[in-house]
Amino acid sequence: MVGKICGTGSCVPEHILDNEALSGMVDTNDAWIRERTGVVRRHIIEKETTVSMAAEAGRRALEDGGVLPEEVDLLIVSTFTSEILLPCAACEVQKELGAVHAACFDLNAACTGFLFAYHTAQAYIAAGICKTVLLIGSESLSNMVNWQDRGTCILFGDGAGAAVLRAQPGTPQIAVMHSDGNAGDALTMYSRHRKDWVESEKDYIRMDGRAVFGFAVKKVPEVIREVLEKNKMTLEEIDYFILHQANRRIVESAARHLGIGIEKFPMNLQEYGNTSSASIPLLLDEWNRSGNVKPGQTILLAGFGAGLSWGAAVFTW
Ligand code: UT7
Repeated sequence: MVGKICGTGSCVPEHILDNEALSGMVDTNDAWIRERTGVVRRHIIEKETTVSMAAEAGRRALEDGGVLPEEVDLLIVSTFTSEILLPCAACEVQKELGAVHAACFDLNAACTGFLFAYHTAQAYIAAGICKTVLLIGSESLSNMVNWQDRGTCILFGDGAGAAVLRAQPGTPQIAVMHSDGNAGDALTMYSRHRKDWVESEKDYIRMDGRAVFGFAVKKVPEVIREVLEKNKMTLEEIDYFILHQANRRIVESAARHLGIGIEKFPMNLQEYGNTSSASIPLLLDEWNRSGNVKPGQTILLAGFGAGLSWGAAVFTW
C-alpha cells in the first residue's frame, strides 16, 4: 500500500512583521534582508499558538481531501516549538478536530520534520498499520528566537501546513533520510527545563548561519540526486521541486547545481520567512490551492535543518 496525498491545508498568523518594522527592533535593514535571504515579511503569532495553527491547517487539509476527522487513524505533528509538552501537540490537535480514532504523536526533526513525518506515515501505511494519516508541521519560531540577534530573528516566521494521506494499492517511492549529530552545534536551542538553568543565549535559537548555509547548498542537490537515483528517476521527470524555505539563495543554488530552471522551484519564503517544519506543507498547500499542481505530475520534496538533518521524497500528485 502507498499513502497518496488527497488534501492539503495551511494556517498562518494574522499579524505581519515586515522588514521595515524589524529594522526598528534590531540593527538590520530591508535591503540586506532581501538581498541575503529573500524574506520580505513574516507572520508572527499574537493570539494563535502552535496547536491552534496546527488544528486549523489540519482541519483545512481534511476538508480539502473530503476526509472526516473520525477516519484519521494516525495524526503526527512535526514541531519543536509547541507551547505544551504534555500531552503532545498531536493529542491537542486531535481534541480540536475530533479525530477520535487517531493514534497521536509529535515528531521533532527540526526543519526536516515534515519530511521525516511523511516517511513515517508511508512506512505505517506500507506495513498495513494505518489507512488515513494526517501530517502537520506547525511552528511558533517567534517564541524561540532572540529578537536582539540579527543573525536569526530576520529569518524565521510562524505558521502551519498539513497534508492528509490515504492508503491505496501500490508501492511507495524509496525514502531518503539522513542525520549527523556530530554537526549539531551549528543550530541549537536548549530547554529552559534543566537543573542548572540560568537564563542565557542558549535558551534561544543559536545558529552558525554560514555553516548551515554551506551544509544546505551541498546537501540539498546531493539528496535530490540520491532520491532520484534510488527510485530510478531522472531530474527531467520532476515537475516541481518543493524545498524547505530557508533562504532564497539556497533554493537558487540548488537549481543552479542541478541545472534545472528556477521556475520549477516554487518559493513563498518572501511572505513567511523560514517556518521550519511548516515550510514544505505550507508551500505545497499554496501550490495545490492555486491549481499549479495537476494530477499525474511528479513532485519532489527536500528539507534540511538542525540535527543536522536532511532528506527528500518523491511522489506523483
Ligand atoms: O532552516 C534552518 C536552516 N537554517 C538556514 O538554512 C540558514 C542558513 N544561513 C543563512 O541563511 C545565512 O547564513 C544568513 C541569512 C543567516 C546570514 O547571511 P550570510 O550571507 O551568511 O551573512 P553572514 O553571517 O556571513 O554576515 C555577512 C555580514 C556580516 O558583516 P561583516 O562581518 O561582513 O562586516 C554580518 O555582521 O552581514 C552582517 N549581518 C547583517 N547585516 C545586516 C549579519 N546579519 C545581518 C543583518 N542585517 N540581519
